[in-house]
Amino acid sequence: MGEVKRYLITSALPYANGPLHVGHLAGAYVPADIYVRYLRLLKHDVKFICGSDEHGAAITMRAKTINSTPKEIVEKYHAINKQSFKEFGISFDIYHRTSASLHHKVSQDFFKKLNGKNVFRTKVVEQYYDEKEEQFLADRYIQGQCPKCNYQEAFGDQCESCGSDLSPSDLIDPRSTLSGNAPVMRRTKHWFLPMQEYQQWVSEWIRDCQKKEHWKKHVLGQCESWIKQGLRERAMTRDLEWGVKVPLEDAKGKVLYVWLDAPIGYISATQALTNEWEKYWKDKDTKLVHFIGKDNIVFHCIIFPILLHAHGEYTLPINIPANQFMNLEKSKISTSRNHAVWLTDYMERFPEKQDALRYYLTVNMPENKDSDFAWKEFQAKVDSDLVGVLGGFFNRTFSLIHKNFNGRVGFPKNVSDTGSKDLRNNVFSNIEKFKVEFDRYIHGYEFKKASDTYINLARQGNKLLHETSPWKIMGDDPNSAEYILALCMEIVAVLVAYMEPLLPFTCRRLKDYLEIKTDDVQQILDGDYKIEKIKIGKVIHFFERIDSEAVNRELDKLNL
Ligand code: MF3
Ligand code: ZN
Repeated sequence: MGEVKRYLITSALPYANGPLHVGHLAGAYVPADIYVRYLRLLKHDVKFICGSDEHGAAITMRAKTINSTPKEIVEKYHAINKQSFKEFGISFDIYHRTSASLHHKVSQDFFKKLNGKNVFRTKVVEQYYDEKEEQFLADRYIQGQCPKCNYQEAFGDQCESCGSDLSPSDLIDPRSTLSGNAPVMRRTKHWFLPMQEYQQWVSEWIRDCQKKEHWKKHVLGQCESWIKQGLRERAMTRDLEWGVKVPLEDAKGKVLYVWLDAPIGYISATQALTNEWEKYWKDKDTKLVHFIGKDNIVFHCIIFPILLHAHGEYTLPINIPANQFMNLEKSKISTSRNHAVWLTDYMERFPEKQDALRYYLTVNMPENKDSDFAWKEFQAKVDSDLVGVLGGFFNRTFSLIHKNFNGRVGFPKNVSDTGSKDLRNNVFSNIEKFKVEFDRYIHGYEFKKASDTYINLARQGNKLLHETSPWKIMGDDPNSAEYILALCMEIVAVLVAYMEPLLPFTCRRLKDYLEIKTDDVQQILDGDYKIEKIKIGKVIHFFERIDSEAVNRELDKLNL
């Protein structure tokens, strides 16, 4: 076993303003969970942090639309989303929330520290105000025409049609989404982070990170384009009711910008989790990695690192392996059009099939470009890879051993087949190759490839069975047949040990069935496990086909 390293792994805190869908899982949660489970398997010291992002316009807007209050909304969805993550085996060490008083305190202290170090520039600015609603308008509350592409429904912070980053005053013919009226300009004081002063630092920091880890091309691309355009100052305070109050006398009625308080949520969650949180946040040896979707890149690669750097006490991330988006049946996942596969619905309609979904989301992960969730492809992949290749291999191996060897095999000494040595070398070299590759892919955040190489190992097992047909020689040469099945069991053991990150639920069932304990798993990883220990009982199935009717029902619901 290698040297133990310390890791702090975060997944983007999802807004508690609605349920989660497959795009969320594929983007920032399944990849992080695979990574974390693998690190735990290797016995590294790892904490996996997440929670609900409960502030910002995303929440208040949702409350408005359904005639509710922000508090009610976050209570409801925090519980629902926490449960969904649990159901899909996303193994956070804590699922915290930004409405927690600890979080308010930690983010206020963070703000005070920056303010004390004169990091902010205060400025009185003119900002859009809705006279009818008597409130300043968050960027998201203003819509108008995009100056770059002329899209009519662009938001005050971003045009969702061309992706441009905007500020409200860029919009042509702005209107308030609250009242529909044209907003007026009003003066208000805010605390700005002068990001332009950190431009050079950020470039160098990103360059330094590359010396330790390779960043994804699309992540670097977004960073470079931001830096090339020139970083600008960004307000870290907002005139709003809902949020973390700005902890200053002259800031009544103001809250922290949600993109300031939310990432600090990673810190407050770690504090809520363990008294030893400083080991994870203040020790240079801790490796911090943020898993996010591509819409969060600038916040995690530029703004939050600047804040952490300016603060001075905390660890900075070493990598931000952001994913792109997953579409659904060729069009963008959309909450408003209800074009999504909601995790809560999936659980109801495909009970106990979490691993099937995790598997499909992994092999189809939008690692470097957008991908597409297609129900038929989901079914085809599960049927061919899980039921066919993996399930088929387990099933054939277990049945043969159960029927012919009373459930237990080993390596008989006197095997007549002179080819057995070659077979053995071949199997063990495939296993070694698999271990090295799997490790390299996971550490390189290449989860699709990790998954492919995993299934491929099972494929090699099937090939061995196919080419040697032990069932044919069983009568005449039982020793050779047993020898081959023992080799198959070597592959089975490795497949079970490495299954945990990819298919955690099935892994549990297999371990129970084969009575493989935690210590056994370590021995398998280290290559000194004895498959003779395993006793195979009555053969059971570990994977099930996906029902065509169920898939058709899902497709019908989508109004494609
Ligand atoms: N709530 C944000 C989103 O869903 C993500 C916040 S990530 C954090 O896009 F770093 F701010 F926590
Ligand atoms: Zn546009």
